[in-house]
Amino acid sequence: MKRNECIRMMLFLLTYAILSLYSASGWTAELSSSDCVKCHAAQPAQIDAQGARHKTITCQDCHAGHRPASKNNIPVCSQYHQGKPHFETKGCLTCHTNPHTPLVITFSSTLTEPCLTCHTPQIKQLRENKSKHSALYCTTCHSVHRQAPECTKCHKPHSSDMAAADCKKCHKAHMPKVVTYASDTGSIYCAACHSKAYNLLKESKAKHASLTCATCHQEKHKMVPKCQDCHGEKHPAGIMAKFPRCGDCHNIAHDLNNWKTASAPAAQAPKVTKKKRK
Ligand code: HEC
Ligand code: HEC
Ligand code: HEC
Ligand code: HEC
Ligand code: HEC
Ligand code: HEC
Ligand code: HEC
Ligand code: HEC
Ligand code: HEC
Ligand code: HEC
Ligand code: HEC
Repeated sequence: MKRNECIRMMLFLLTYAILSLYSASGWTAELSSSDCVKCHAAQPAQIDAQGARHKTITCQDCHAGHRPASKNNIPVCSQYHQGKPHFETKGCLTCHTNPHTPLVITFSSTLTEPCLTCHTPQIKQLRENKSKHSALYCTTCHSVHRQAPECTKCHKPHSSDMAAADCKKCHKAHMPKVVTYASDTGSIYCAACHSKAYNLLKESKAKHASLTCATCHQEKHKMVPKCQDCHGEKHPAGIMAKFPRCGDCHNIAHDLNNWKTASAPAAQAPKVTKKKRK
C-alpha cells in the first residue's frame, strides 16, 4: 500500500512535470485522444472491448482539458444525457459503474423505482394482484439485468414430479397467486396437492377416468364445472324433478357409479348415494 502510493506519487510528479512542460511550451493544445493511451492503458482497452455507443466518441469529447492546466476534466452524465425519464434517475454510476463500459450494469439488491422508467407492465401486475411478491424489490429477483431467476431458487416444487420449468404452467412471476393453466396440463401436477381426487379418478372404471383434471376444471384454479356443461339435460324432466342432483344417482364425478361392470340397476332408479366430498 505505502509502496504503491509512493510509486503513484512519483509517476504523478513525473507526469506533472512533463505535462507542465507541454503546457509551458503551448503543447497542451496538441494533446490528442491518441495520446491518452500512452499513460492510461485501462480506459482505452475498456472502451475497445465494451464501450458500446461510447465507442463512437473520443476521450476528449468527455474529458475536456487535463491537469494541471484544468483541474477537473471529469464530465457529469447530464451534460450529454437529457430528455428521458430514465435520465432523471439518481446516481447513474451506481448502476453504470464504469462509463468506459456503460452497459456493464450492476444492481443493488433494493431497487424498484429506477426500473419503472423502462418497465411498466410488471409493476402493474404486482400491484393489481397483491401477493407476497408485491412486497419484494425488483432486484430481489433480478439481481442481474435481463436475467430472471428460476422459481426453485427460492421455492421447493410441490412434488418430485415437478421441475423448475413446470412452475410457469400455473404461475406468473408477477402475479403468482392467480393460478391459471392450459387445457393440456397433466393431472400429475394437480396430484401434488390433490392425491385423493387423483387416486380416486385413476382407479375408477367409468369413462371419466380417461379425462384429465384440466379437461373438467378448466383454466382457472378452483373452477368447478357443472355436469350439464358437458352432458346437457340428459334425462327427462320428470326424473330430474324427483332427483334434482345428478350425483343422487351417479355419485361424484371422480367416482361415477359404474353400473355396466357392477350389477346393473337397469331402469329403476339406483339407490340414492350421499354426495361424497374429498
Ligand atoms: C503523459 C502522461 C499522460 C497523458 C498523455 C494523459 N494523461 Fe491523463 N493523467 C495522467 C496522470 C499522471 C494523471 C493523474 C493521476 C492521478 O491523479 O491519480 C492523469 C489523470 C487523468 C484523469 C483523472 C483526472 C481526475 O481528476 O481524477 C483523466 C480523466 C485523464 N487523465 C484523462 C486523460 C485523457 C482523456 C488523456 C488524453 C487526451 C490523457 N489523460 C492523457 C497522465 C497522462
Ligand atoms: C462517455 C464519456 C467518457 C469517455 C468517452 C471517456 N471517459 Fe474517461 N471517464 C468518464 C467519467 C464520467 C469518469 C469518472 C468515473 C468515476 O467517477 O468513477 C472517467 C474517468 C476517467 C479516468 C480516471 C480514472 C477512472 O477510471 O476513474 C481516466 C484516466 C479516464 N477516464 C480516461 C479516459 C480515456 C483515456 C478515454 C478515452 C479512451 C476516456 N476516459 C473516455 C467519462 C468518459
Ligand atoms: C437502477 C440502475 C440504473 C441507474 C441508476 C441508471 N441507469 Fe441507465 N440504464 C440502466 C439499465 C438497466 C439500462 C438498460 C441497459 C440495457 O439495455 O441492457 C440503462 C440504459 C441506459 C442508457 C442507454 C439506453 C437509453 O435509454 O438511451 C443510457 C444512455 C443510460 N442508461 C444513462 C443513464 C444515466 C445518464 C443515468 C443517471 C441519470 C442512468 N442511466 C442511471 C440502469 C440504470
Ligand atoms: C433504460 C431502460 C432500462 C432500465 C432502467 C431497466 N431496464 Fe430492464 N431492460 C431494458 C431493455 C431495453 C431490455 C431488453 C428488452 C427486450 O429484449 O425486449 C430489458 C430487459 C430486462 C429483462 C429481461 C426481459 C426478457 O424479456 O427476458 C428483465 C428481467 C429486466 N430488464 C429487469 C430490469 C430491472 C429489474 C430493472 C431495474 C433494476 C431494469 N430492468 C431497468 C431496459 C431497461
Ligand atoms: C419474485 C421474483 C420477482 C420479482 C419480485 C420481480 N420479478 Fe420480474 N420476473 C421474475 C421471473 C421469474 C421472470 C421470468 C418469467 C417468465 O419467464 O415467464 C420475470 C420476468 C420479468 C421480465 C421479462 C418480461 C416479463 O414480464 O415476463 C421483466 C421485464 C421483469 N421481470 C421486470 C421486473 C420488474 C421491473 C420488477 C419490479 C417491479 C420485477 N420484475 C419483479 C421474477 C420476479
Ligand atoms: C428471490 C426469491 C424468490 C423467487 C425467485 C421467487 N419467489 Fe415466490 N416468494 C418469495 C418470497 C420471499 C415469498 C414470501 C414467502 C413468505 O412470506 O412466506 C414468496 C411467495 C410466493 C408465493 C405465495 C404468495 C402469497 O402471497 O402467498 C407464491 C405462489 C410464489 N412465491 C410463487 C413463485 C413462483 C411461481 C416463482 C417463479 C416464477 C417464484 N415464486 C419466484 C421469493 C421468491
Ligand atoms: C398444476 C399447477 C401448479 C404448478 C405446476 C405449480 N404450482 Fe405452485 N401452486 C399451485 C396452486 C393451485 C397453489 C395455491 C394453493 C392454494 O390456494 O393455497 C400454489 C401455491 C404455490 C406457492 C405458495 C405456497 C404454497 O406452497 O401453497 C408457492 C411458493 C408455489 N406454488 C410455488 C411453485 C413452484 C416453485 C412451482 C414449480 C416448481 C409451482 N408452484 C408449480 C399450482 C401449481
Ligand atoms: C399447491 C397445491 C395445489 C395444487 C398444485 C393444485 N391445487 Fe387445487 N386446491 C388447493 C387448495 C389448497 C385448495 C383449497 C382446498 C379447500 O378449500 O379445502 C384447492 C381447491 C381446488 C378445487 C376445489 C374448489 C372448490 O370449490 O371446492 C379444485 C376443483 C381444484 N383445487 C382443482 C385443481 C386442479 C384441477 C389442479 C391442477 C391443475 C390443482 N387444483 C392443483 C391446492 C392445490
Ligand atoms: C368437461 C366435460 C364433462 C363434465 C363436466 C362431466 N362429464 Fe361426464 N363425461 C364426459 C365425457 C367426455 C364422458 C365420456 C363420454 C364417452 O366416452 O362416450 C363422460 C361420461 C359420463 C358418463 C358415462 C360414464 C361411463 O363410464 O359410461 C356419465 C354417467 C357421466 N359422464 C356423468 C357425469 C356427471 C354426473 C357429471 C357431473 C358430476 C359429469 N359427467 C361431468 C365429460 C364430462
Ligand atoms: C369429468 C370431469 C372431472 C374430472 C376429470 C375431474 N373432476 Fe374434479 N370435480 C368435478 C366436479 C363436477 C366436481 C364437483 C363435485 C361433484 O359433483 O362431483 C369436482 C370436484 C373437485 C374438487 C372439490 C371437491 C373434492 O372432491 O375435493 C377437487 C379438489 C377436484 N375436483 C379436483 C380434481 C382433480 C385433482 C382432478 C384430476 C385428478 C379432477 N378433479 C378431475 C369434475 C371433474
Ligand atoms: C334418477 C337417477 C339419475 C339421475 C338423477 C341422473 N341420471 Fe344420468 N343416468 C341414470 C341412469 C340409470 C343411466 C343409464 C345408465 C346406463 O345406461 O348404463 C344414466 C346415464 C347417464 C349418462 C350416460 C349416457 C350414455 O349415453 O352413456 C350420462 C352422461 C348421464 N346419465 C348424465 C346425467 C346428468 C348430467 C345428470 C344430472 C343432470 C344425470 N345423469 C342425472 C340415472 C340418473
